[in-house]
Amino acid sequence: MIATQRLFLRPLRQEDATQRYLDWFRGPASERIYSSDLMNETDDLRRYIAERQAREDVLFLGIFERTSGDHIGNLKYEPISEKEFVATMGIFIGEPSARGKGIAGEAIQAANSWLKDRRRIRKIVLGVETNNIAAIRAYEKIGFLFEECEEISPSASTLSMVLTL
Ligand SMILES: CC(C)(COP(=O)(O)OP(=O)(O)OC[C@H]1O[C@@H](n2cnc3c(N)ncnc32)[C@H](O)[C@@H]1OP(=O)(O)O)[C@@H](O)C(=O)NCCC(=O)NCCS
Repeated sequence: MIATQRLFLRPLRQEDATQRYLDWFRGPASERIYSSDLMNETDDLRRYIAERQAREDVLFLGIFERTSGDHIGNLKYEPISEKEFVATMGIFIGEPSARGKGIAGEAIQAANSWLKDRRRIRKIVLGVETNNIAAIRAYEKIGFLFEECEEISPSASTLSMVLTL
């Protein structure tokens, strides 16, 4: 468990595959998430969680509000390369009402520190669509820079960002 001022993060479990979580994939900006099309019923979520929890090279965390305990988003590092000291990150603040409050930055910074201390990760990389202004802003605020990297193939619509820990 990773705790911050407003949040706690922990690996997702089968029982987190709720209708509320499924509804995120019908909400605003859910098309930004590559797995959206695969999520049609809670069993799809359960399968997706199980596959990731079975892998040593994946850290799939739920983001929960500390006061209410509500599940409001997910933060995923897939894959984590302990050989190269690099992890590829993705985030989804699923509850639209939780957006615009700096939740992404708070969660990412705490999980990054955990990865640095516990798994010796030195670099976080991600791919972001060039028109995803909210995401770019959230990443820039915590120090990510636009930079090419081996892990992310750039395209006309997607660029890579890198944070050195
Ligand atoms: C992108 C995302 C991760 C940002 O998380 P967040 O916790 O809302 O980030 P922040 O609160 O730091 O806000 C970042 C920017 O979002 C914009 N924003 C503000 N309120 C917003 C709202 N209600 N809804 C969406 N975006 C908002 C602002 O541009 C803000 O920048 P500012 O702080 O300089 O004003 C989150 O909106 C999300 O999960 N979106 C859908 C999925 C997605 O795009 N994931 C990233 C794929 S690379």
